[in-house]
Amino acid sequence: MREDRSGIVGNGIVGSGAGNGIVGSGAGAGNGHSNGRRPRGARKAPMAHNEADELEFGSGTWQVGEQVHYVVEGGIPLHGEVRLSGAKNAVTKLMVASLLTEDRCVLHNAPRNLGDTAITERVLRALGSEVEWTGEADVALRTRQTTSTVVPLELGKKNRLAVLTVGPMLHRAGRATIPQPGGDRIGPRPIDFHLLGLQQMGAAIEDRDGLYYFHTTGLKGATIELPFPSVMATETILIAATLARGVTVIKNAAIEPEIMDLIKFLQKMGAIIEQRVDRKIVIEGVPRLHGAEHRVLSDRNEAVSLAIAAYLTRGDVRLVGADQGTLLTFLNTLYRVGLDFSVEEDAIRFFGTDEPPRSIALETDVHPGFMTDWQQPFTVLLTQARGMSVVHETIFNDRFGYTYELNKMGADTGLYTKCLGELECRFREQDSLHSCIVRGPTPLHAADLTMPDIRAGASYLLAALCAHGTSRVWGIEHIERGYDNLHAKLRGLGAHIERVGA
Ligand code: EPU
Repeated sequence: MREDRSGIVGNGIVGSGAGNGIVGSGAGAGNGHSNGRRPRGARKAPMAHNEADELEFGSGTWQVGEQVHYVVEGGIPLHGEVRLSGAKNAVTKLMVASLLTEDRCVLHNAPRNLGDTAITERVLRALGSEVEWTGEADVALRTRQTTSTVVPLELGKKNRLAVLTVGPMLHRAGRATIPQPGGDRIGPRPIDFHLLGLQQMGAAIEDRDGLYYFHTTGLKGATIELPFPSVMATETILIAATLARGVTVIKNAAIEPEIMDLIKFLQKMGAIIEQRVDRKIVIEGVPRLHGAEHRVLSDRNEAVSLAIAAYLTRGDVRLVGADQGTLLTFLNTLYRVGLDFSVEEDAIRFFGTDEPPRSIALETDVHPGFMTDWQQPFTVLLTQARGMSVVHETIFNDRFGYTYELNKMGADTGLYTKCLGELECRFREQDSLHSCIVRGPTPLHAADLTMPDIRAGASYLLAALCAHGTSRVWGIEHIERGYDNLHAKLRGLGAHIERVGA
């Protein structure tokens, strides 16, 4: 055992900066290979095929058999109306926040048919919570007392949410144990910011045999400056700070809409949280939180995927519950590529035309920028745009592996290690393929595809919906972990998509 620079005791590696820290479960989403054309100078994605990872993900799903897949007939215009579900990246955090009180909490508009919700429910039950679904999208949570402080390995490995339980468990029991997290293979996904924040608040952390052990005699407020505005590190600290002694200041905090939703819920529970200018969040610790009721905000990632499905199929789709405020940047980008939409009182309508979209130079960024989770669906759209588009990914350094499969379907994309954009990017010095050039429009044809992660999975579905012929898409546990019945919603809009092999 050793003590590293960060002061965290263990055999593991805990760095202090982005990308130096604990390395996630795989080097790449690049499980595809290209038969397609690559522009000159473009590099092939690394064949980072780690069988151990593959096996872990294969069996580490939340109950989707390997033979289950989608059969998608492309080229059918989507029409009609669909109601968006509650946001995956909000509901799971709100569920965990209920651990902060012994009282009953109720969430409405909670997406039930979603793998991440099921995993979070099982984690909470393992810690002693009672979880009761009182309606299709209404869940009541109550943790009268914690019966365990350990997030079981098989659950903690499935996604990255276990670390959020640490704050509440430290408040309630003085200790917590979680496995090193899993999640999508979209590049290294360390949790060093979370650990350093918790440590500054008075948690002692030991890293042993793939597990993190935390204990404390009481969390206290601290001023924590995040090296990068990480979404979940902000949430981990936010949740932990509500009951800490004194004031916590998070500098360089993330301010995504899902974080604002969490803040609203915590305030309803009795927390005192202020959002200041310049990414500063100030939390005044209180001795006790109480139960609360909350409606989960709608899923902006689901909205973007369905909107792009409408454009790609030249359809006309009304998304009920779509929130203009959380989609501002996406909507601006639609205008920039020449696409139209109309914002209505309770919905946004997205309608395609026969005219191909215009090409664009696009960069992902932290909120309020263009979200990294929209990059994959939007790149599929750009395969149908006239001219050369450039996409610079600045949040995760390995999130373009899916483009090799698109090339197999007829797309013309190439990946570059250079920063093809203006934003200051942490990947400039790294040898990672984080810029993409797309030339279009190129007709897509059907293919057999295997999803490597949630958003890449969505892009495959979109490509299949727009392609000529019938595609088969495997690895659907990824999409079903992150989207609430997407295939059923698409069917409701007229898509020819079957879930077979169940
Ligand atoms: N980072 C570190 N150290 C940390 C934490 C983050 O170096 O301790 C780095 C990451 O490696 C990454 C960057 O900071 O390069 C930003 O990562 P962030 O922490 O913001 O991502 P996250 O909180 O793990 C959430 C969403 C992602 C979404 C990102 C960015 C959840 C459960 N996940 O991840 O959603 O892409 O924020 O908005 O909220 C998805 O839903 O498909 C998904 C991947």
